[in-house]
Amino acid sequence: MKGKRIILGVSGGIAAYKTPQLVRLLKKAGADVRIALTASGSRFVSELALATVSGESVCREMFPPADQPGTDFTRHISLGEWADALVIAPATANTLARLAVGMCDDMLSACFITLRPHKPVLIFPAMDGQMYRSPAVQRNIATLAAQGCTIIEPETGDLASGQCGTGRMPEPEIIAGRIGAALQKSATGSPLSGRTVVVTAGPTREKIDGVRFISNYSSGKMGFALAEAARERGAEVTLITGPVNLETPGGVERLDVENACEMYEAAKPFYSTCAVFIAAAAVADYRPETPHEGKLKKNSPEMQLKLVRNPDILADFGARKRPGQLAVGFALETGEGIAYARCKLQEKNLDLVAFNTFDRKTSGFEVDTNALTLIDRNHMETVLPLMPKKEAARRLLDHVELLMGDPAANMTTEK
Ligand code: CTP
Repeated sequence: MKGKRIILGVSGGIAAYKTPQLVRLLKKAGADVRIALTASGSRFVSELALATVSGESVCREMFPPADQPGTDFTRHISLGEWADALVIAPATANTLARLAVGMCDDMLSACFITLRPHKPVLIFPAMDGQMYRSPAVQRNIATLAAQGCTIIEPETGDLASGQCGTGRMPEPEIIAGRIGAALQKSATGSPLSGRTVVVTAGPTREKIDGVRFISNYSSGKMGFALAEAARERGAEVTLITGPVNLETPGGVERLDVENACEMYEAAKPFYSTCAVFIAAAAVADYRPETPHEGKLKKNSPEMQLKLVRNPDILADFGARKRPGQLAVGFALETGEGIAYARCKLQEKNLDLVAFNTFDRKTSGFEVDTNALTLIDRNHMETVLPLMPKKEAARRLLDHVELLMGDPAANMTTEK
């Protein structure tokens, strides 16, 4: 972030109180920060606090006093031209609406309109959960996303209204991380851009008889978030998924399968062509040897089900991968299992393993959040805090990008 010029647009929501801390983090990372504060924003955070931490006067007035010598009367244009990135945090429902329709009546909206093309715009909506879900807000978000803005979904938790819901602005550390990643990407382009990424997701169902199966609690959310994040970075993504109740992320090719053998057959054709293989599926290790066609009847006090091993898709890819291809796996343990995760990295010849413990409320299956520890082939371990799965997916891909740029990887060109 060193030397990067960032405009921080602050609009009027309670989360604005976190912005002086965000400015401090950006300044500490070497960025040059200017602040565009809306009139409502100034009700929640003091102009003086923001001016003090940024070391610059805060931009509020579109029309500066005409009688002050040295005044930049076209600052509403020059500021947007000056910036390398515009970050709007918090972005209220009102600000989203005004940006979506192209209004230009304060410094924040003027900066948005005058920002040079292709400069990153990161928008962090923050508001009450009910407001966030409203069709009007979602429509404005979709409009801004279609214009190329990066919209960072708010977090779920306690809101100012006293309710629990989705609408919280992420903590300043997370926002600063996203800004750093966006600036890096705009400078260099993502190494994932144009590369083929295959993601397995969801559970598998192993048939016992015509009406029953063996499965697990996987919702597919982590795999879908990874597919979406890889697509955001310009990758050609194929998502091979077991039965889940999720919408396919835009621009992603989806292959639906039922059981482990089908997932294996669907994945094999991509082995030689993909740059990155991410196995996020919770594949059943065993399947009934001979599933019954009809419905099994309970005509004896006991019954035995003979199970046989399923193919290990990730281990198979790991064993065949060529130099430059990356294999990423997950290790879900119910307790202290990081040692198992390290073993999995070796045994399956992985480049990265994401270890997470199973906790029904916060991480693992079904929930929207995850706390991952990333262990890479260089034995580097990165402990990520509990965060939304979408954010965890991005952080995982940041690490994949690092490994792609690692000369030890002896990259081969895919195309
Ligand atoms: N995996 C796979 N095919 C399988 C089993 C697992 O691709 N048949 C992948 C999963 O998608 C995940 C990783 O391998 O990325 C998990 O490894 P696994 O050995 O199944 O882990 P656990 O089941 O957690 O370990 P264990 O069976 O040793 O308890």
